[in-house]
Amino acid sequence: MVTANPTGTDSRPRVLLTRRIPASVQSKLEAGCNLELYDGPSPLTSDELVRRLRGKHGLVCVLTDPVTADVLGAANDLRVVANIAVGYDNIDVASAHSRGIVVTNTPDVLTESTAELTWALILAVTRRIGEGERLVRRGGWQGWALDFMLGMELRGKQLGIIGRGRIGRAVAARASAFGMTAVFAARESRSSSDPPELSFDELLVSSDVISIHTPLTASTRHLIDRRALARMKRSAFLVNTARGPVVDEEALAWALKEHLIAGAALDVYEREPEVFAGLLDLENVVLAPHLGSATRETRTAMADLAVSNVLAVLQGRPALTPVSPR
Ligand code: DGY
Repeated sequence: MVTANPTGTDSRPRVLLTRRIPASVQSKLEAGCNLELYDGPSPLTSDELVRRLRGKHGLVCVLTDPVTADVLGAANDLRVVANIAVGYDNIDVASAHSRGIVVTNTPDVLTESTAELTWALILAVTRRIGEGERLVRRGGWQGWALDFMLGMELRGKQLGIIGRGRIGRAVAARASAFGMTAVFAARESRSSSDPPELSFDELLVSSDVISIHTPLTASTRHLIDRRALARMKRSAFLVNTARGPVVDEEALAWALKEHLIAGAALDVYEREPEVFAGLLDLENVVLAPHLGSATRETRTAMADLAVSNVLAVLQGRPALTPVSPR
């Protein structure tokens, strides 16, 4: 628990919040601590984070905040970092742990909204919604025709899911509604499970839609590279709502341009908000601006969980959803 009161004025713990959050949640934070809110138009740089974290006991941050070893090393009073995201590749968790700083994320509360967005993208790319909308808006639609803008039916097809966490399982749970069979990529060894697990290579060669739900780690960076894309069916689609760097965007643009796969739908990018230029002109890719968890309900619940985590640690209680180094 933080009790120090060097100034003799406000003895409550000091917390930096790097984005405005719903007022009902922010007021909980304000009631429990001395709050500094950063509300600028662009994400904080690491230099700015270092400056603002001086004397702070808690940090409530978002996935665009680079909470690096250098930032943590300069934050002498910091006790807890609460990320408003389930992914935490923006935080050096190992470094935080070595300094006794608790790190938390926001699992569960965004599972359903991210699974829904994944299905929105699966439907959009297999039924060419983005391409069709662009055509209509530019006045290019000539009218109904029997062979016009044909897509792929989902019924009877295989959905290959990479990542057997909460979101991957929530996506799989919706597959039967579309008549699809869901299979997972096996992590290490194969286990008998329902839905079944295939080796990564078996999943690549046999799936009609591949959806990525794995965290970004050293071993998943560029998991989908030229080799993996070349193993996919020419009629298959790739969907990524996890983290951009899991897919090599340059390789993806090549595969889409050469029609080595039928299409892709992305919600996340290697260098957000930048999108690899080679993708922008392609009709067979749907590009969404990182909307996986972007519903009012979910974003409020994410902020609420992060605030509960930071208050718990600063009040001497265990964090609700702590994370460990991967
Ligand atoms: C997360 O929580 O990691 C998501 O990417 C945010 O939308």
